[in-house]
Amino acid sequence: MNYRHIYHAGNIGDVLKHIVLANILKYLQKKDGAYRVLDTHAGVGLYDLTSEEAQKTGEWQQGVGKVLENLGDAPGPVKEVLAPWLETVETLNPGGGVKFYPGSPEIACMLARKQDRLTLTELHPEDFEELKNNYGGDKKVKVIALDAWLALGSFLPPKERRGVVLIDPAFEVEDEFARVADGVIRGWKRWPTGTFAIWYPVKNFSAVRQLIATLDEAGIRNTVKIELSAGKVSKDAPMKASGMMVINPPWTLTKDMNTALPWLCKTLTQGINPSWNVEQVIPE
Ligand SMILES: C[S@@+](CC[C@H](N)C(=O)[O-])C[C@H]1O[C@@H](n2cnc3c(N)ncnc32)[C@H](O)[C@@H]1O
Repeated sequence: MNYRHIYHAGNIGDVLKHIVLANILKYLQKKDGAYRVLDTHAGVGLYDLTSEEAQKTGEWQQGVGKVLENLGDAPGPVKEVLAPWLETVETLNPGGGVKFYPGSPEIACMLARKQDRLTLTELHPEDFEELKNNYGGDKKVKVIALDAWLALGSFLPPKERRGVVLIDPAFEVEDEFARVADGVIRGWKRWPTGTFAIWYPVKNFSAVRQLIATLDEAGIRNTVKIELSAGKVSKDAPMKASGMMVINPPWTLTKDMNTALPWLCKTLTQGINPSWNVEQVIPE
C-alpha cells in the first residue's frame, strides 16, 4: 500500500466527492432519526495543505483552491449546493483561505448530530494511527483497522437502518473496479435500502460501463452517475476526471448536481473539452 491521500487532498476528485457526500448527509438530517456513515477507505481525516507532501503536487490548488478563489462569482443556487461542504472547510479555516482540508471522516464528523454515528475503516498502518488519534476519542465514532471489503460484510446493515456507505478506494491495483463491484454487491445484498456512494477515477470508460452493467445484473436499482472532468490533459498528468456512482441517492441529488456542476466545470477547467454529466444509469 503506497497510496497516501495527503498528496491529493482537496484536488478536483475530492471536491466532487465531498460535495456529494455533504449533500447526502444534509439530506439524511431532514429526519430526526439517527443515521450511520460507514467510510470504508477513510484516510487520515484531516489534511494540512501547507505540508511538504501536499505542496509537492499542489493538486489542491486546482481543486478547493480554485473554488475558493472564484466563489464570489458563483450564482446563489450553486453556493447553496456547495454550502454543506464549504461550511466544513470554512470552520477549519476561520481566518479564510485553506490551510486545513477536511477529508471524508472530518466532514462526516463535523456534520454529525449528537444521535448520528460513524464507522471508519482504514488499512494503512500509519494512516490508521493518525485517524485513530484524530477521532478515537469521539464517542460517536468507531475507528477500525480493517480491510474495506471485509467491513462491507461486517458492518451492514447498520442498526440505525439509515445512512450512507462511502467507498473511496485508492485505485492503485489493476482490478480495483472489479473489487468495487464485488464489494458493493455484497454490501447492497445486506442492506438494499442503504445509500452507497462510490468514487472512481475516469480514465477508462469501459471500466465504468462494466461497473454499471455488473451492478445492474446483480439487481441493484436506482443508481445515479455524477462525473466531472477538468479537460483532456497529458497521459501522465495528475487525475483530472472522476465520478461518483450513487445507489439509492437522495431524490434531490440529481437536481442539486445539475445546478452545481456547470459552474464547477467552468471554474476547474484545465485542459481541452472539460465536461460534466449527471445521469440515472440504472432506473428505479
Ligand atoms: C482515496 S483515499 C481515502 C480518502 C478519504 N475517503 C477522504 O475522502 O478523505 C483511500 C484510502 O484507502 C486506504 N485503503 C486502501 N485499500 C484499503 C482497503 N482494502 N481497506 C481499507 N482501506 C484501504 C488507503 O490507505 C487510503 O488512505
